[in-house]
Amino acid sequence: MATASPSTYSAVTLNINGEKHTLTVDHRTTLLDALRERLDMTGTKKGCDQGQCGACTVLLDKRRAVACLQLAVAAEGREITTIEGIAEGEQLHPVQQAFLDLDGYQCGYCTPGQICSAVAVIEEHAAGWPSAATDDVRPEAGPPPLTAEEIRERMSGNLCRCGAYVSIVQAVARAAEADARTTQDIPDARPVQGAEHEGAAA
Ligand code: FES
Ligand code: FES
Repeated sequence: MATASPSTYSAVTLNINGEKHTLTVDHRTTLLDALRERLDMTGTKKGCDQGQCGACTVLLDKRRAVACLQLAVAAEGREITTIEGIAEGEQLHPVQQAFLDLDGYQCGYCTPGQICSAVAVIEEHAAGWPSAATDDVRPEAGPPPLTAEEIRERMSGNLCRCGAYVSIVQAVARAAEADARTTQDIPDARPVQGAEHEGAAA
């Protein structure tokens, strides 16, 4: 069996949840495997391992990324946030609390990715980013109402095999309501329109 040449390995320093971790990795090592296999940070889950399920979602410089499609060496110098870094010490993030309060999970396998995505979705929405479900995409239109359709579209990269989508949509909406930037100018952001009817967020 062929063995990898030393030239295929590099030392890399990853900034994860505000802490620096230096390790030597094969250049082909994904960020997901570096997190789980090398750093024992198993909160980030492996589902499909090919960018389709969202289970491995982390934040890179506060934007969503599937860690199975990122090389660890390419993540050097970036701010990596995993599910282990979402809470503030013992204080759960509002998205985590909403998932707990509204039963946004069943087996919980997809939950870390769902929560990381939701944190960024709320940021993206508050910043006025449109989605494919947004009717008026003119910059002056501002953030669209955070309807169930908007949440489903924005969370569509995260699959849940348990089908906890109804509760996930409600949890994201509840957490968004707690975000002053999101609710400031959007009086019709609540209740979540259609959440009670829809069976899927993705
Ligand atoms: S494990 Fe990365 S998207 Fe499925
Ligand atoms: S809660 Fe089981 S896969 Fe989503």
